[in-house]
Amino acid sequence: MNKKQIRIGMIGYKFMGKAHSHAYRDVAFYFDPKVEPVLQAICGRNEEKVKEAANKFGWNSYETDWRTLIKRDDIDLIDIVTPNYNHAEIAIAAAEAGKHVFCEKPLAMDLEQSKRMLEAVEKNKVLHMINHNYRFAPAIQFAKKLIEEGRLGKIYHIRATYLQDWIMDPQFPLVWRLNKDVSGSGSHGDLAAHSIDLARFLVGEFKEVTGIMETFIKQRPIVEDSDGLSGTASSDKLGDVNVDDASVFIAKFENGAIGTFEATRFAGGNKNGNRFEINGEKGSIRWDVEHMNNLEVYFHDDEPGLQGFRTITCTEEIHPFAGAYWPAGHIIGYEHTFINLVEELLSGIGQGYSPSPNFYDGVKNQAVLEAVEQSSRTKQWVSIEDIVQNLENR
Ligand SMILES: NC(=O)c1ccc[n+]([C@@H]2O[C@H](COP(=O)([O-])OP(=O)(O)OC[C@H]3O[C@@H](n4cnc5c(N)ncnc54)[C@H](O)[C@@H]3O)[C@@H](O)[C@H]2O)c1
Repeated sequence: MNKKQIRIGMIGYKFMGKAHSHAYRDVAFYFDPKVEPVLQAICGRNEEKVKEAANKFGWNSYETDWRTLIKRDDIDLIDIVTPNYNHAEIAIAAAEAGKHVFCEKPLAMDLEQSKRMLEAVEKNKVLHMINHNYRFAPAIQFAKKLIEEGRLGKIYHIRATYLQDWIMDPQFPLVWRLNKDVSGSGSHGDLAAHSIDLARFLVGEFKEVTGIMETFIKQRPIVEDSDGLSGTASSDKLGDVNVDDASVFIAKFENGAIGTFEATRFAGGNKNGNRFEINGEKGSIRWDVEHMNNLEVYFHDDEPGLQGFRTITCTEEIHPFAGAYWPAGHIIGYEHTFINLVEELLSGIGQGYSPSPNFYDGVKNQAVLEAVEQSSRTKQWVSIEDIVQNLENR
């Protein structure tokens, strides 16, 4: 019997556009998805470039205006891989047109926008998901299993860092990630959002936070062209950087755990240092995306003399998602986190639910981001409940 098809319309075609296109194309190679993804139409503003992307990534057609894409009745799901400034406008319009929505992180520019997005998908009864792909590394899913089984006992600490260094050169241009009107925030929404998602997934809900945010290079050359994490300058003319280069915060969780978080693009030598350590009463775990197949695990009740972190290569059948790929020890990479997430998205669509992380998780994440931003201005602790309540009272 032929599978039900889900016809995708994707807006944006660069860094994440490539990663999502690849995941749709490869998912049926490894899994048996509940519904069949069809790469129906890709959208971008530059006709020549979007046509080239359509050909290269294997899309059936292209559009140059996202509003036209959303109006098409041969599209079932809108995938948003544009910079953060238009996630809300596109997602709300897509939901109102009855399309399911898959959106890149951070969900929106601020908490208020993210709440409107959640309301729109709920009101229009469409399914939704947000792309926190790191959750879908088999080692992370296995870490979740260990924690749920109580193997670490009560959790005391999470120590999370997300360290990059791609904008340390003062001559690196003012790309969209450094423009608040397009990105909402700097390292904070771009990098800390991922650490917050992993902390919510593995430790629990945040209770309160306090933090600081800093911009080290205040002006940069105006950008001519950019793609993902690269860019070229158009001239010597400078523009203002109005987002954080680094954000650092500490947090208390509802369950009594405490955490430290650091997100920066000024940690020289670190390319994509998304790492964390979690310590519980019975053991600890460590993870580093640049060695993403490995989970370091320590159990307090190991035999004296043999205690210490051991490295588990999470590539066996018992490790979630890993069994779909290669024999044990034959490692997978960054792109497979997207394939695993898309498999989950298609399962949800096939069975009529919105898999986590979805827009609800996006709103929770945005509340933590916003609480840290408020704290960095007021130099006070900010409670997550208060920040959500203040929004309701506005
Ligand atoms: N999940 C992750 O790990 C991860 C990694 C990188 C980026 N992201 C997120 O993905 C999103 C896109 O980031 P990126 O690195 O792919 O950016 P990018 O600059 O590489 O690509 C952005 C794309 O959006 C298109 N675009 C911009 N405005 C548009 C509009 N009005 N209409 C149609 N197309 C438009 C651009 O032409 C381009 O194709 C951001 O929200 C970012 O935070 C997530």
